Amino acid sequence: MANQHGRNDLAGANIVTVFGGTGFVGRRIVRRLLDKGIDVRAVSRHPSKNTLDNASDKKPSQQIDADILVPSSIVAAVAGSRAVVNAVSLYVERGKETFERVHVEAAAALATASRDVGVETFIQISGIGSDPNSRSNYIRARGRGEDVVKAAFPGAVIVRPAVMTGLDDAFITTIARLVCLLPIYPLFGEGSTRLQPVYVEDVAEAVSRLALGQNPTGASIFECAGPRIYSYRELVQKVAIQFKVRTRPVPVPFAVWNILAAATEFLPAAPLTRNQVDLMRRDNVAASDLPGLEELGIEPRSVEEVVRMLAHAA
Ligand SMILES: NC(=O)c1ccc[n+]([C@@H]2O[C@H](COP(=O)([O-])OP(=O)(O)OC[C@H]3O[C@@H](n4cnc5c(N)ncnc54)[C@H](OP(=O)(O)O)[C@@H]3O)[C@@H](O)[C@H]2O)c1
Repeated sequence: MANQHGRNDLAGANIVTVFGGTGFVGRRIVRRLLDKGIDVRAVSRHPSKNTLDNASDKKPSQQIDADILVPSSIVAAVAGSRAVVNAVSLYVERGKETFERVHVEAAAALATASRDVGVETFIQISGIGSDPNSRSNYIRARGRGEDVVKAAFPGAVIVRPAVMTGLDDAFITTIARLVCLLPIYPLFGEGSTRLQPVYVEDVAEAVSRLALGQNPTGASIFECAGPRIYSYRELVQKVAIQFKVRTRPVPVPFAVWNILAAATEFLPAAPLTRNQVDLMRRDNVAASDLPGLEELGIEPRSVEEVVRMLAHAA
């Protein structure tokens, strides 16, 4: 399919490829695109896992088994795409899967392969707070990942979500489980970290619009956050009220959390990771000078609404 310049002839190509298309946000991006009548290629190492929320949902046009760490497989996976979304995550380093390899080297390789085959739009899902100069190796890798993607694919769009909420999230669901289980609630530090949680479906809609070139501002970085900022302590209290339980929030120093995370993050379903502790040390709110959901015409769903949905589903 590649022409003499090594670029694909994309005439008629209409596929949007979502790396990480079976993940928490990735599978919703896939579904949003399918709902818009777009052909979607969902790529991951276990493509048949978890692709859809409901059995009645449409299947992706293509489900591809590829590892972002294997250059030959990513070249094949992006071929013929009009847009590529990188929604691959790595929350815990294991063996050869390091933050540097996945969030920096593989992101750069995916962006380069996409540019080389003539993809029009490349979207890198990153996170609010990403910083190439951070002392946290996770946050630093996310920041460096953005830089290498922009260098490899001029015009790439970076989407930085705040912590995402939704029916199967790892954030509000965990708070809910703990407030229902424990009479006291261990806070990260004093619980004063400021957060602006965003509904995962709103982020998925934003990414699907950007993937289709609907970028009215032409901006290259979007910070997607919810309508309100809360302290972590406030969020715990909101969840407790909605779940009709009483809880007493108790401060726990970050140093203690770090020790706990270091001890448990290698368990198969890690309850806590050191990068989560790092992320909870600093405020995670959208920059006022960067575009976000509003600029993409999306009215963000409130945390209260999502917590109500979770309480109803429990
Ligand atoms: N969740 C949040 O609250 C949040 C907040 C801000 C930013 N983000 C960012 O959003 C992105 C997606 O996060 P998520 O929470 O949706 O992640 P997730 O649920 O863990 O999903 C990750 C996806 O990536 C795939 N994947 C992992 N390693 C891969 C590899 N080596 N090759 C190919 N595919 C691979 C997974 O499938 P397989 O394992 O089957 O390959 C899965 O489809 C990440 O960049 C994350 O940092 C998330």
